[in-house]
Amino acid sequence: MADRKATLTVEGLDKPIELPIYSGTRGPDVIDVRGLGSEGLFTYDPGFMATSSCQSAITYIDGGKGMLLHRGYPIDQLAQNSDFVELCYLLMFGELPSKAEYANFADRVTSHTMVHEQLANFFKGFRRDAHPMSIMCGVVGGLAAFYHDHLDITKQEDREISAIRLIAKMPTLAAMSHKYNVGQPFNYPRNDLNYAENFLYMMFSNPCEEYKINPVFAKAMDRIFMLHADHEQNASTSTVRLAGSTGANPFACISAGIAALWGPAHGGANEAVLNMLDEIGDESEENIQRFIDRAKDKDDPFKLMGFGHRVYRNFDPRAKVMKETCDEVLEQLGRADDPQLRIAKRLEQIALEDEYFIERKLYPNVDFYSGIILKAMGIPKNMFTVIFAVSRTIGWISHWHEMLSESYKIGRPRQLYVGHDKRDYPTD
Ligand code: CMC
Repeated sequence: MADRKATLTVEGLDKPIELPIYSGTRGPDVIDVRGLGSEGLFTYDPGFMATSSCQSAITYIDGGKGMLLHRGYPIDQLAQNSDFVELCYLLMFGELPSKAEYANFADRVTSHTMVHEQLANFFKGFRRDAHPMSIMCGVVGGLAAFYHDHLDITKQEDREISAIRLIAKMPTLAAMSHKYNVGQPFNYPRNDLNYAENFLYMMFSNPCEEYKINPVFAKAMDRIFMLHADHEQNASTSTVRLAGSTGANPFACISAGIAALWGPAHGGANEAVLNMLDEIGDESEENIQRFIDRAKDKDDPFKLMGFGHRVYRNFDPRAKVMKETCDEVLEQLGRADDPQLRIAKRLEQIALEDEYFIERKLYPNVDFYSGIILKAMGIPKNMFTVIFAVSRTIGWISHWHEMLSESYKIGRPRQLYVGHDKRDYPTD
């Protein structure tokens, strides 16, 4: 596998160290530094600025070109021609399903949408005003207590059953966390509906009136699920892999992923974008410019939420599809001239022409427009990151499954210790 070698000369060492270099299908080559430990050296890379933590065949991002491929297929083509359930199959199993495989997989997912009745008691332990993400961290971790019949992570069949349970039950749990928040009864899933329709039904239906699913909303919801499905070794996926490397059960690993996703630098950004647009409020040019100036001011912690990305140094391809979907939803609602959309578009325009953002290659990311669509569909802000978690579950579980299908080691980084040297405990 090693095509080339890197030679490292270290002051104080008698001879140079040879390190193998590997090439993937695409992307930068990697230097295998694992041998350095036996030479008494570690590499130092806080924030993983130049470290590949694993090899993977699931997703590829070219940040410079604004390219995102799932199993080789570009995200815009998938968003145009596929649906979330098919994407789940593709991410998990590596190939697009045949018609029969699709039907069988959709059927398996559908037959696992209900959750154990006792789980409702978990919800009741939370305060009504608990953030739904905190509820999700708890109840998803708690699933291991209910579904321990197939938890032998060394068996492919058990891993698949847990994966299907997670994909199927996440929308149910997400909708339950919302219903608990607003004080309405939980809805059982309806298996005659597709994945996105069922989620909207469980979110919005109530016993007092019939809920009609808007097909434009269902399509938009499915797109939102697709656009967030996977993004290679991001913070939450790496968290899931790290937790999984200890042999932890899949429900515990996904719960760890949900916790990592919650932060505003990651999945919490979609809620933060809407908070920012609310805070901007007034769409006058001077006011919008004031927020741009704040984002550029190093003494101000304010950042333009929904802007910038560790990997993309060009347009986030997901943001392009998200913007189109946003226009479709608002058009359908007769709100194409939504004031928040106007503020968002103007912010984007000013930022894209501003030297600060150009120099740093900061572009809108997937979260910049998703919040506006979700809000237009009547989804409360505190559910935005939960929806991200529902979508990303397939990415997390596919990476977990991939890791366990290959040889792997427990993830255990080292450190550069800068604390006190050994000293004696004072005894007098
Ligand atoms: N507004 C203003 N300045 C920014 C922003 C922003 N949104 N993002 C980055 N910068 C600046 C940053 O201050 C730094 O400036 P300088 O070089 O002068 O110190 C430079 O751009 C490089 O940024 P960085 O923080 O070193 O980049 P990073 O790769 O460590 O962080 C990020 C990436 C996404 C955490 C960051 O861009 C950010 O906080 N963006 C806002 C939050 C957000 O939208 N997050 C969602 C990411 S996409 C969804 C997901 O995958 O979870």
